Amino acid sequence: MGHPRVDAIAQEARDAVAAAGSSAELESLRVRVLGRAGALTQLLRSLGSLPPEERPLVGAAANEAKRELEALLASRLAEALEAERRRRREHARPDLTLPGRRPPRGSVHPLVRVRDEIIAIFMGLGFSVAEGPEIESDYHNFEALNIPRDHPARDMQDTFYLGGERGGGAAPPREEADTLLLRTHTSPVQIRTMRVQRPPVRVICPGRVYRRDADITHSPMFHQVEGLAVDRDVSMADLKGTLALFAHEMFGPGSKIRFRPSFFPFTEPSAEVDVLCFLCAGQGCRVCKQSGWLEILGSGMVHPHVLENVGYDPEEVTGWAFGMGVERIAMLKYGIDDIRLFFENDLRFLRQFA
Ligand code: DAH
Repeated sequence: MGHPRVDAIAQEARDAVAAAGSSAELESLRVRVLGRAGALTQLLRSLGSLPPEERPLVGAAANEAKRELEALLASRLAEALEAERRRRREHARPDLTLPGRRPPRGSVHPLVRVRDEIIAIFMGLGFSVAEGPEIESDYHNFEALNIPRDHPARDMQDTFYLGGERGGGAAPPREEADTLLLRTHTSPVQIRTMRVQRPPVRVICPGRVYRRDADITHSPMFHQVEGLAVDRDVSMADLKGTLALFAHEMFGPGSKIRFRPSFFPFTEPSAEVDVLCFLCAGQGCRVCKQSGWLEILGSGMVHPHVLENVGYDPEEVTGWAFGMGVERIAMLKYGIDDIRLFFENDLRFLRQFA
């Protein structure tokens, strides 16, 4: 049995429950409808002010409405909580249709890349790879290469001396022969190779070298690749043909090389080799310093003294050699103007070679 006043309050409460969207809203609605300040509670409290014959009717209707609303709120709250729980569970379940996250992948360092490219070109020509120690004796690094004692290359300014001695190494006992140093070039690997191998010899020797030098084009540690070919009747023409092919492979089919007379103690005659500037095609630009040419390596015919030092007969065999800086080749090839970029390992730099 209803009562108009109670029915109005109950209807308003039902509408509010129907409109509530979440368990939190239902919860606050419950407090508002059924709490102390709620309209039903207020009505029941004020029963005493009603005419006596109305009191039981209003009281019964209000209590009935209260029970109905309590049940309604309880069941709607349970539904809302269940729906919210379900939504949370679905959220926590992995979405197998999402694309995967890529694991970070490294890339080959530009110097390794250029070194491997140089090696591959010469291996294609029948050369094999030889390596030697970075801690080297004075004998292999200088003396056997015909570098005299007063040569500036031996200066403390250029060479890291280690101040130790190698006990009974491969070097013959000579004055100064066993002083240890960090090799200043890969040329000592020529000596080591020829001492254990009879001609014909065709090797390339990649590796780290060290010099007391540091600016934007010099690093105290850098990389070289040495080349050596010794056989009967090996000539400078073979050297030139080989290097022309190398430049062709390394810098592109349009590349040209030229030989410039030079001097190295371990070669005679000696030549520095330039490649036609591939940026301006010889017109002159910032990179080639307006000369049209870029120096890429030193080379020459192996000095007879060097051949004698390893027990070869210079009357019987001849050879050529060259040495190039890997950093220099990489800087030219990729237009890099600061050698330090190779060693800072800034990912923004390295990623460009991925
Ligand atoms: N060793 C020389 C240097 O480090 C480079 C070089 C020049 C190597 C001429 C050679 C050569 O084998 O024949 O500057």
